Amino acid sequence: MTDEILSCSDVWFRYPDGTIALRGISLTIYEGEILAILGPNGAGKSTLLLVLAGLLKPWRGFVSYRGERLRVDDPLIRRSIGMVFQNPDDQLFCPTVFDDLAFSLRQLELPEDEIKRRVEEAALLVGVSHLLHKPPYRLSFGEKKRVALASILIYDPEILILDEPTSSMSPRFIFQIKEILEERRSIGRTHILATQDVEFAYELADRIVIIIEGRLRREGSPEIIIQEPNLLEEADLKIPKGV
Ligand SMILES: Nc1ncnc2c1ncn2[C@@H]1O[C@H](COP(=O)(O)OP(=O)(O)OP(=O)(O)O)[C@@H](O)[C@H]1O
Ligand SMILES: [Mg+2]
Repeated sequence: MTDEILSCSDVWFRYPDGTIALRGISLTIYEGEILAILGPNGAGKSTLLLVLAGLLKPWRGFVSYRGERLRVDDPLIRRSIGMVFQNPDDQLFCPTVFDDLAFSLRQLELPEDEIKRRVEEAALLVGVSHLLHKPPYRLSFGEKKRVALASILIYDPEILILDEPTSSMSPRFIFQIKEILEERRSIGRTHILATQDVEFAYELADRIVIIIEGRLRREGSPEIIIQEPNLLEEADLKIPKGV
């Protein structure tokens, strides 16, 4: 875990209404690691993920991918960096679950029988095989989150960015997500996730960063961060039982 894959350097982000969501964040992400970003509501976690994914352009500073300046909306970047949004309604837009899962593979112009096989495989992985012919807007929130995750996993991006993957999800699925991410890590894929779920981050992440009011407040191993109750309280994070 030594090769730098993605980094941001003194990144500031300002929304059109004048809200400054990121205030000078510098961060390096290493190939094959799982990095968890924690912090209170409104800290800037989602904004930082969108900037790292190349979906929002920093106001100041820049993001580098494999040593080169990342350009917003570069199609090559879109294949390498996949992002699962905090709200699945922002991700799903096709008439059926099948079409949402197939979307990226159709962009890649894969043969339809291979697409069908991969859609069925991805649906099985996240437990939505029985929903493939439903329109996404008819699904429960948790079901939509599963489909949103599968729609990105299906093209196996080198870097997978997940915004609040465990929120509103039942324990069995949280366990499944952990298995999926561990499996991907074992083949060298990189993960960045934002979460309020300290237990999930503690069990899965190689490294944790804490963001408060758009600033990077702390960076370290889960074992070290967990032993800082004052910091966790400042970041409005619940200390898990039994660790
Ligand atoms: N589209 C937008 N326009 C204006 N301000 C925004 C927009 N989106 C987010 N913000 C503001 O930017 C700041 C950071 O928001 P962000 O969504 O990145 O926080 P977060 O850490 O992901 O919070 P949460 O834990 O609630 O998901 C907040 O003050 C928020 O109100
Ligand atoms: Mg958020």
